[in-house]
Amino acid sequence: MILVTGGTGLVGTHLLASLVQKHDKIRAIKRKNSNLDAVKEVFSFYFDDVSSQFSKIEWIEADITDVTSLGKAFEGVTYVYHVAALVSFNPKEYYLMRKINIEGTANIVNFSIAQKVTKLCFVSSIAAIDKTHKNGLIDETGDWTVEANNYGYAITKYGAEMEVWRGTQEGLDAVIVNPGIILGSGCWNTSSGKIFTQVAKGLRFYTEGVTGYVSVKDVVKSMVDLMESNIKNERYILVAENRSLKDVLFFIADAFGKKRPSIKVTTLLAEITWRLLYIPSKLFGTEAKLTKQTAKSIHNKYYFSNNKIKEAIDIKFEPIDKVIKGVCANYKK
Ligand SMILES: NC(=O)c1ccc[n+]([C@@H]2O[C@H](COP(=O)([O-])OP(=O)(O)OC[C@H]3O[C@@H](n4cnc5c(N)ncnc54)[C@H](OP(=O)(O)O)[C@@H]3O)[C@@H](O)[C@H]2O)c1
Repeated sequence: MILVTGGTGLVGTHLLASLVQKHDKIRAIKRKNSNLDAVKEVFSFYFDDVSSQFSKIEWIEADITDVTSLGKAFEGVTYVYHVAALVSFNPKEYYLMRKINIEGTANIVNFSIAQKVTKLCFVSSIAAIDKTHKNGLIDETGDWTVEANNYGYAITKYGAEMEVWRGTQEGLDAVIVNPGIILGSGCWNTSSGKIFTQVAKGLRFYTEGVTGYVSVKDVVKSMVDLMESNIKNERYILVAENRSLKDVLFFIADAFGKKRPSIKVTTLLAEITWRLLYIPSKLFGTEAKLTKQTAKSIHNKYYFSNNKIKEAIDIKFEPIDKVIKGVCANYKK
């Protein structure tokens, strides 16, 4: 039995759509208020017979931070895809993120060891990759330090990886993937799906910060191929291309036939804006749209290598402009 966590999110829905094509029975966890319509919407991009494919999934109500709810989910499980996480750049959610991303992963690792699962695949992030390489592209080899990566999401994804590596020391076989920003259809109001919604609404701002981007389909293919291989206890950056945010937003705007964002957010503008937003967010307890941390990170220029995954599995990454055209076409539907 295969168990999937995070099956209602962007990566998890596409992963389930891939797994049901090969397996008759998959188990996925959902929370009380999880939205299963999001899963059905993503399935509609893959299948004509959505309900028969959807019925291959056994949904169990569980929360990865609640150990008692996980026991039933792990009964008879042999392979685990641990995808669930809280993806947030809101400093107010830091402690909740620690609980879900680090403690939640520790729980998944502990159950996997107790259940003697054959293999675990954990979805980490490039946020947990060291970026201090002085020459060439960033790869999987550097030593991540909290001093160089002191923002909540990165700290919690790194902490989660530590739990997985601890599990491997206790006998668990595991693979970790570290995707860049994931682009895919569905989940338009959560995680990276919001990028498409914001441009569709008419986003006016852009930056020239550079990072790695990858399609959700390539993330899923890499996860499944790694799980089906003999590879264990390795981690892999998943990035198709390193692109500026400007490029990506312009591709999306063009695919939607919208006006391209026209206001370049300079370092100075970002520094002034986060300070202006900070005061009302403190006064009224609201979420600041730009925080100190995001104001800094949106200008970083990071270039990642995808050599390691290309050597491990047979993969040809889909170009980002093509990915965006496909996602925007589904959005318009
Ligand atoms: N999206 C990206 O660009 C990106 C890039 C790199 C890495 N990642 C990583 O990829 C993974 C999936 O991201 P995503 O974009 O698919 O995120 P997402 O769309 O926000 O989905 C998050 C999933 O986690 C579940 N979840 C959250 N807290 C949970 C809890 N306490 N117990 C059980 N389930 C819980 C959510 O369930 P509910 O439906 O109940 O909320 C949802 O299914 C995450 O580990 C993320 O860190 C994402």
